[in-house]
Amino acid sequence: MTHEPAGASEERRVVRVVRGRPTRDGAGVRLTRVIGTPELDHLDPFLLLDEFKSDRPDDYVAGFPDHPHRGFETVTYMLAGAMVHRDHVGHRGELAAGGVQWMTAGRGIVHSEMPRQTDGLLWGFQLWINLPARLKMTAPRYQDIPPERVPEVSLAPGVRARVLAGEAGGVRGPVEGIVTEPLYLDVRMDPDARAVLSLPRGHTAFAYVYEGAVALGPADAARAVHAGELAVLSDGDRVSATTGAGPARFLLLAAAPLREPVARYGPLVMTTPEEVAQAVEEYRRGTFLG
Ligand code: CO
Repeated sequence: MTHEPAGASEERRVVRVVRGRPTRDGAGVRLTRVIGTPELDHLDPFLLLDEFKSDRPDDYVAGFPDHPHRGFETVTYMLAGAMVHRDHVGHRGELAAGGVQWMTAGRGIVHSEMPRQTDGLLWGFQLWINLPARLKMTAPRYQDIPPERVPEVSLAPGVRARVLAGEAGGVRGPVEGIVTEPLYLDVRMDPDARAVLSLPRGHTAFAYVYEGAVALGPADAARAVHAGELAVLSDGDRVSATTGAGPARFLLLAAAPLREPVARYGPLVMTTPEEVAQAVEEYRRGTFLG
């Protein structure tokens, strides 16, 4: 019998599978909410994950008119179509397919996020990542990353990943200086492919499958995860991914948990209810941006 030393390598397993629920947000944009629901309120430090995908303009043209954010980061990643955002200080960004916008809202941003197009497919994701209490009132910061700055790496035969943040296969993504040290991969697997994907031990991790199906976990305990499902992973330093007769595409996320209380009211996420009430009051009075 062998005893593995503390800190030995360990494969992550699927501990829970959650399916997103259809909802509307902004001025009526139809989307699927996967984190930030009654089933999965948050997954420390991840506060929200939305997938929006439609080729019907009525589902998205109204967009997300002016709204505030305080206390966390929003990460928007587009697969198809384009979004334009404008904020209260005149920062304008256009997010193209394959690009990512990492917005550290900090003490406060008021912005709009509107589809540039009036027809065709709009497909993307918005993820919210919490900030620790000590950084909730930090100065706002944008990282607008065009598609050509997102590297793609081969991780195994028939397995490729775009690296938005963190490191995979010796390649670092373009997003820098984020306190929770996130890994954000967009993984594409051919049929009958297998990969072992490295994940930082101790970091919260999940996979969200958005096309096809992939089996995640050790060979004797792999679990099939289908498009529209999020798999919460146990701790460990890697996860095995295997496809069957069809291809799969999924997001793989990991980040350091904050282990702090979460008090939230829509796009205002603080540590105590009093801080949230103060943010609401400031927004109502017009002093939110100081
Ligand atoms: Co927003």
